[in-house]
Amino acid sequence: MSAKTKIIIDTDPGIDDAIALFMAMADPDLEILGMTAVNGNVPVDKAEYNIRRICDFAWHTGIRVYKGCDRPLKRSVLNAEWVHGSDGLAGQDFGEPAYKGEEENAVDFIIKTLMKSPEREVSLVAIGPLTNIATVFLTEPKTISRVRELIIMGGAFCEDGPRGNSTPYAEFNMLADPHAAQIVFDMAERVTVIPMEVGMQAAADKAFLERMRDLNLRCATMSADLLDITAKTLADHLFKKTGTAPEKGTSLYDPCAIGCLIRPALFSGRYGTVQVNTDASDEKFGMTTFEEGNKRNCLVTHKVDKEAFKDMLLAHLANLS
Ligand code: BDR
Ligand code: CA
Repeated sequence: MSAKTKIIIDTDPGIDDAIALFMAMADPDLEILGMTAVNGNVPVDKAEYNIRRICDFAWHTGIRVYKGCDRPLKRSVLNAEWVHGSDGLAGQDFGEPAYKGEEENAVDFIIKTLMKSPEREVSLVAIGPLTNIATVFLTEPKTISRVRELIIMGGAFCEDGPRGNSTPYAEFNMLADPHAAQIVFDMAERVTVIPMEVGMQAAADKAFLERMRDLNLRCATMSADLLDITAKTLADHLFKKTGTAPEKGTSLYDPCAIGCLIRPALFSGRYGTVQVNTDASDEKFGMTTFEEGNKRNCLVTHKVDKEAFKDMLLAHLANLS
C-alpha cells in the first residue's frame, strides 16, 4: 500500500473553498495534517469558523484547524462577502461545530509541521490570499526547501481572456495580498499555479449541477446549492452592471487546485516566473504576468481536462455521506 500524500490546506471559505475541502476530505490518498484560515473572502475569524463547520458537516471531525493572519502584509483588508455572503457560505445551514479549533497560530503550525517532517514530505495547497504562506517563508526560510509542492489558486495569464475577477486586471487572491503573493513567487521552489482561466474552464453548468443533485447525498446537494446561489449572485451583479447576464456556469476555482494535487495529469501548463503588480496606485494593482524562462520554479497551468475533472469531483462527492 502506498503512503498517503500529506497536505496542509490554507483557505478562506468561501463557497468554492467549501467544495474544495469536501473534495480533499473525500480523497482516500490524502492525509490532511491541518487546515489553516487566512483573511480573504471573509475575515479570518469567519474563515476559521467556516472550516470547522465544513469539516463537521462532512463528518470529518478529526481535522485540526488553525487561525492565521487577519490582514494582508501591506495593503488594506479586502474581502469578497458580496460574492460569498456575509457569513462566507451563502447563508446555508452548516450547523454549529462541536470542535473549538486549535489555540496555536496557523503560521506557527505550518512552520512546526514542515520543520519536523522529512524533507519534501508535506504539500501545501493555498486557495486564499497568500498572507499565511508568505509569513511562513519570511519567518523561517528553511521551510521553503522542505515543501514537497505548493499549489496556488490565483492570478490570470490568458493573453486574450479576462485578466481579473475583482478588477479588470486582478484576480481576487492576488489582489487581496499582492505583496505576499510576490514574496511567495520569488521564494518558493516548487510551485504549481491554477489561474482563474483554468477554474473558468471547469465551470459548473446546469447539467453538471443536476448530476451533482442526482447523487442525492448531503455534501453533494450542499455543493449544488452553493453553486446555484453563486450563479444567481454573479448573474444579478452582471445584470445590474451591463443590463444583460448570459448564462455561464460557476467557476470551480479552488476545487481545481485540489484536483491538480490528486491528478496532475489532467492539467497542462508552462514553466517560468510570475510577477505580481504591487503598485497600489496603478489600476493594474494585483495583476499577474508570466515569463517563460530559466528559473523553472513555477508551473503555470493553462488547461484542464474539464470533463475528467468534473467526473472526478462527482466521484469524490459520492464518497461523502
Ligand atoms: C478565488 O477568489 C475567491 O473568491 C475564491 O474562493 C477563489 O479562491 C478566485 O478568484
Ligand atoms: Ca478561496
